[in-house]
Amino acid sequence: MSPKYSLLAFWHIAMLIFFSINVTFGSEHLSEFIQLSSSLDRGNMPKNIIAASFAGGTNHLVPLLEICKILKDRGYNVTLIAPGNFTAKSVSYSSIPQITVDVLDMGEVYSTFEEDLIKMDHMKTYSAITSYASSVYVKFYNIYKQIAEEVNVDLFFCDYMMNFACFDIAWKLGKPVVGIASMLGYITNLPPYRSDPLMGCHVTMENESFYNRFICIIKPLKFLLNSAPLGEVNSQREKVGVDPSWDFRGRISNILILTDNFYGFEIPMALPPLHQEIGPILPDTFPNLTPTLNSFLETHPRTIYFALGSIMQTTPKNIITILKSFVELIDQNVIDGVIWASVKTNTSRLLSTDDDINISTILNNDHPHIHIVKYAPQFAILSHENTKLFLSHGGASSCHESIYTATPMLVLPMFGDQLGNAEKLEVFGMALRLTPINLEITDVVSKIKKLLNEGSFKKNAERLQFLAKINSKRKYRGADMIEVVMNAAKFEGIEDENGKLRIDNNVLLKEWITPDSRMGFIRGSYLDVYCTIIIILLSLFGGILFSTWKIAKFFFNISRDSSKPKTE
Ligand SMILES: *[C@@H]1O[C@H](CO)[C@@H](O)[C@H](O)[C@H]1NC(C)=O
Ligand SMILES: *[C@@H]1O[C@H](CO)[C@@H](O)[C@H](O)[C@H]1NC(C)=O
Ligand SMILES: *[C@@H]1O[C@H](CO)[C@@H](O)[C@H](O)[C@H]1NC(C)=O
Ligand SMILES: *[C@@H]1O[C@H](CO)[C@@H](O)[C@H](O)[C@H]1NC(C)=O
Ligand SMILES: *[C@@H]1O[C@H](CO)[C@@H](O)[C@H](O)[C@H]1NC(C)=O
Repeated sequence: MSPKYSLLAFWHIAMLIFFSINVTFGSEHLSEFIQLSSSLDRGNMPKNIIAASFAGGTNHLVPLLEICKILKDRGYNVTLIAPGNFTAKSVSYSSIPQITVDVLDMGEVYSTFEEDLIKMDHMKTYSAITSYASSVYVKFYNIYKQIAEEVNVDLFFCDYMMNFACFDIAWKLGKPVVGIASMLGYITNLPPYRSDPLMGCHVTMENESFYNRFICIIKPLKFLLNSAPLGEVNSQREKVGVDPSWDFRGRISNILILTDNFYGFEIPMALPPLHQEIGPILPDTFPNLTPTLNSFLETHPRTIYFALGSIMQTTPKNIITILKSFVELIDQNVIDGVIWASVKTNTSRLLSTDDDINISTILNNDHPHIHIVKYAPQFAILSHENTKLFLSHGGASSCHESIYTATPMLVLPMFGDQLGNAEKLEVFGMALRLTPINLEITDVVSKIKKLLNEGSFKKNAERLQFLAKINSKRKYRGADMIEVVMNAAKFEGIEDENGKLRIDNNVLLKEWITPDSRMGFIRGSYLDVYCTIIIILLSLFGGILFSTWKIAKFFFNISRDSSKPKTE
């Protein structure tokens, strides 16, 4: 032992003796331990929360509402503002009152852009959606404003997707705001090795050529410039007296964004403290199997579940291709059951297509191995041991449920995060991908065979399942984070002339705002220091080169002079 450590050990022992004497001979008889108290004082905490979503829809609202439900249980007063009429009809969320915004919900919006979606023209689809979002900006803004006054709002909880007005109103009213998003690409600065198939690149650029890596630094900028018509949004902002913002991401700098995601499904990368992962967010209960579905699953031990989510659909041609592939796989005895939740698919459009399988038998549910339902209890089907594979569009909640139940996937992604989700699941070895353009029966059949025959897909799915289960507890942390923001506002709030508390979202979360954001671009990224270092190195190098050249020239001249015959 070095003298330093022995001195340290001696000191520890001395302190130990000192304290035990104190405990033994202390005048009062105190118990040896005290309990750690984690109770929080929520007594005079502001309580009114507005949760707001531009997209609405049933599945899309679930992560937002799960957190709202936890906050509600903790005594907060939550009001949801979103298109559609969701919470009143739902069993799980009926305690959360909803104010309906009278606009199209996301499913209806998507049907408007069906053509571009089918052509997989992502840039066009995105800019059409952004234009649509800006056309209803004022409507959302005014409803947010009106309800904010009615409920005397203390905090906005905004679903990130296209919800410009939600973040704007919070800044305008000086109220704290927290966002929730599932797609990291739009909210955070991705490291260069992370990109997105939506922009013609890949989720990880690990094994890409120099050319692709180079191009994929430039492509996202082009995509954002073309697909986010900020001018349109800003002219709407002007109408309601909100300052313009030229940030593609919306007014989200310096605010907390919760992300419904987890490593295992997301490509590893460092996130700034303001962007916290709390996913996968799943409800505590799900609808159970119907007796019909239950008996189908019990009698079909190798079943594939096919569903494209609550808002997506593909072409009738693709559906026929998929159904034909299923029939072939059943004939080859690779699988013995198919459950198809048709949801948005207009099945009467399938009849008009000419084909060589008996499609009407299938659609009438007369095929002994294929069962069609309009809506299915998806999680219960995936949880059944006889469901061996999920053919999905790859939406975030479908992926989360498939991982949670360790069901390997075949993904037919169409838009948005689905393309990236499909790649991620493939990278992590629990899925294979299809593309909706030029879908071939042989491709579908061979991929399904591979997924069912090679054990690695199931194994990797089980590995991810554990991660998903552990991480699904983090929705409570999501609610904690919102309480932290509320608490910060309680301490920082300053009363305005109307007696309402105002905060500055730019500085509210000083615990999480990294100093570089205050230092300006050049100082914050240390460009001044790095440039100086480069200049010093270059001048040193240049100096050395210059002197070497001078010295070389000097010696060269000497040697030339000495070797030259004297002419005088
Ligand atoms: C929403 O649905 C509930 C239950 O079906 C109904 O009572 C209510 O009137 C509906 N609200 C709106 C705004 O349509
Ligand atoms: C919650 O908000 C509603 C609507 O403003 C109000 O009627 C109700 O009293 C509030 N509840 C609590 C506990 O503050
Ligand atoms: C890239 O290549 C390496 C080496 O072949 C491999 O280990 C790794 O999994 C690959 N990464 C991806 C994302 O395919
Ligand atoms: C479904 O397709 C048929 C045939 O193309 C059409 O007549 C019908 O209106 C469609 N139904 C819906 C709900 O779109
Ligand atoms: C298709 O199935 C229906 C009902 O099972 C049957 O009446 C019809 O003859 C079949 N058609 C062909 C071409 O097999």
